[in-house]
Amino acid sequence: MSKIIAIAMQKGGVGKTTTTVNLAAALAECGQRVLAVDLDAQGNLTQHVGLDPEKLTPTVYDAFRDEIDGYESVAEEAIRQTSEAFDLLPSQPELSLVEIGLMNVISREKVLSIILQPIREHYDYILIDCNPSLGLLVVNALAAADSVLIPVQTEYLAARGANMILATIDTVRRKQLNPNLYIEGILLTMVDTRTILMREVIEAVKEQLGEQNVFDVVIKRSIRFAESVVAGKSILAYDSSSQGAEAYRTLAKEIMGNG
Ligand SMILES: Nc1ncnc2c1ncn2[C@@H]1O[C@H](COP(=O)(O)OP(=O)(O)O)[C@@H](O)[C@H]1O
Ligand SMILES: [Mg+2]
Repeated sequence: MSKIIAIAMQKGGVGKTTTTVNLAAALAECGQRVLAVDLDAQGNLTQHVGLDPEKLTPTVYDAFRDEIDGYESVAEEAIRQTSEAFDLLPSQPELSLVEIGLMNVISREKVLSIILQPIREHYDYILIDCNPSLGLLVVNALAAADSVLIPVQTEYLAARGANMILATIDTVRRKQLNPNLYIEGILLTMVDTRTILMREVIEAVKEQLGEQNVFDVVIKRSIRFAESVVAGKSILAYDSSSQGAEAYRTLAKEIMGNG
């Protein structure tokens, strides 16, 4: 049975793409068959694995276009092998036009779910890297997913932003778009262990969002992450024994343990 996890948070720069790449690499290292889906027109995930979103075709954009226009989906053709041990369904800038194109489509929230249906059987995990919004593409990801992983940048008042995505998840459940959608976990990212306040910030986030919702493992701030982006690699491939690589391995094991 494959599992689809949406990596979602409406705020940018909180570690969605970083988590998608590195969790994909860590799950693959454990022998899992993994597909990472770039659902952000900015194409950061596509770039992170060393591909150029300006030059690729077909992409997830074409898969949406075909589905909207009533053609057979090209999603399978669009999937690329990467230099990492996981596959990628890449993005391109035109993906930003899809939200408008979806407006008049019947079951417009379900298009990604339909696109992924025939692909599911080839993978153990499909990770969807969402764009920083609560728009129709993100709703498509939430409707297609089994669970949601929410990265939260660990800072003062961080829990406020998370409440909005939690409310959206509730709406997706209540409107019967995906009644069984559950929270895989809230991941605290960019934890800065040098600041004295950090323990208190972590405690405050746990108290406000529910300790049981927050992953035990946290991702510390490290320059290695930015370096790995420049190298076009996951942090596991870039610096296998780094703290960051170890943290994402621990996260992968927590998730595999969740079933
Ligand atoms: N744990 C971390 N420590 C330091 N920098 C990080 C960490 N996680 C992500 N970054 C950097 O922060 C920036 C934003 O991260 P990204 O994953 O692209 O966020 P999002 O996808 O939510 O917009 C990127 O430059 C990334 O390399
Ligand atoms: Mg991103």
